Amino acid sequence: MMLKPATALAAAALALTTFSGLAFAHSSATGIVKQRMGLMEEIAESMKQVGSMIRGQTDFDAETVRAAAARMADHAGRMTDMFPRNSTSGPSEALPAIWEDWDGFAGLAGELEAKAVTLSQAAENAQGVDEIRPHFAELGRTCAACHEDFRKAD
Ligand code: HEC
Repeated sequence: MMLKPATALAAAALALTTFSGLAFAHSSATGIVKQRMGLMEEIAESMKQVGSMIRGQTDFDAETVRAAAARMADHAGRMTDMFPRNSTSGPSEALPAIWEDWDGFAGLAGELEAKAVTLSQAAENAQGVDEIRPHFAELGRTCAACHEDFRKAD
């Protein structure tokens, strides 16, 4: 399935809005909450790296995309361990819905991992940004879907 570039960019922009306004929450968090914020931040950094190639701000480099996607897959695989039941203390944007609908939450983490693996595989043989764009957009949609249901709005 090929997406129109505009659709991919919209999904990427949606993913990128998750970066804003969080520096304060992050700085005063502790323990597992702080750790998972760090994990999310690293995922966000990887998205930014790939996103700037998609937008033509940096040159396409297949190996950089592959490595960034592999890192996201690894982080996605560790995500559910970082949400012990009712861990919302300190400043956290995690919603109780995570534990009320654990299967839904874990399902989206699994989806993120699978889509990141797909992106890393697509990057291996890619000659240019068009071949990775739809996979990047898919990833962005998964970030947004999980934040929509399981994370407090800013
Ligand atoms: C399975 C659900 C899920 C997925 C998928 C997910 N996130 Fe998150 N994300 C969360 C939750 C929940 C929080 C809030 C954590 C907290 O504050 O305790 C969060 C927080 C964040 C934060 C804020 C971290 C901070 O410092 O407070 C960023 C940035 C972020 N996510 C980026 C992303 C990006 C980019 C993606 C996709 C590549 C993504 N997330 C995918 C659930 C998810």
